[in-house]
Amino acid sequence: MKPSNLKTRIFLDSGDPQETREALELLGFLDGQTTNPSLIANNPQTAGKKFSKNEILDFYKKVVQEISGLIPAGSVSVEVYADPSTTATEMIEQGKAFNEWIPNAHIKYPTTSAGLQAAEFSVSQRMRINLTLCFSQEQAAAVYEATKGAQKGEVFVSPFVGRLDDRGENGMDLIRNIINMYDSGDDHVEVLTASVRNLEHLLYAVALGSDIVTAPLKILREWVEQGLRIPDKDYRYQPLNLRDILPRPVELGRPWGEYGVKHELTDVGIAKFSSDWNNLII
Ligand code: E4P
Repeated sequence: MKPSNLKTRIFLDSGDPQETREALELLGFLDGQTTNPSLIANNPQTAGKKFSKNEILDFYKKVVQEISGLIPAGSVSVEVYADPSTTATEMIEQGKAFNEWIPNAHIKYPTTSAGLQAAEFSVSQRMRINLTLCFSQEQAAAVYEATKGAQKGEVFVSPFVGRLDDRGENGMDLIRNIINMYDSGDDHVEVLTASVRNLEHLLYAVALGSDIVTAPLKILREWVEQGLRIPDKDYRYQPLNLRDILPRPVELGRPWGEYGVKHELTDVGIAKFSSDWNNLII
């Protein structure tokens, strides 16, 4: 049963429906699931195999449909293929097709200029979206402005905390800074804490009031072992050896193209997702 004082929605970060079943069994609830090309490449059924482009898309569709059937009231994030040359039009084409797969999809676009163009068009069509690979307040401000007019629940932004930690920056600072920046807004973008590597990330995201947290099964299991502990707003998160990410004086209210959306880690993330996907193809 979901604790009644838990406001944050809890998602599983996985490309394997078997893990969806296990998470449901463990937690007794699951508010959604996030997938990405690397997670699909890690699905046990793709191990050591090669597919044609159509076969791997069919496999992704089958996986997403199975997950959706297990959590029909939740959200399932499905990520478009994007490499540095993928245009907004190509992303939109994929997004529209993936959106037909299941009734509860959030389509993931990268937080790049092309991804934001795709996002802007998609919300105008009332498609639900998740802007992924977000590493800066500027990118989060651009997501907010590109999707203005969307209803709450239609747009997620996914800041990646673990990948910032990996290079010595305190990724959780970015979650706090984005939540504070969005305070002056209309609440239409929900903050989805992603790239969660440990239970402290999950607990601090809950304490900060992140709308959603997505976590691997292993971390959900640790949380269950701690009795689904719910931290309050005074929870102290004290990571060792990470540099602070200070709040930046970014204000909402400008056209999204005016915010600098380029980030090195977004480019690295796109390269890794596209290479993991391409490695599955003959
Ligand atoms: C979820 O939407 C993200 O794709 C995922 O959390 C990324 O996690 P990673 O940084 O561990 O690959």
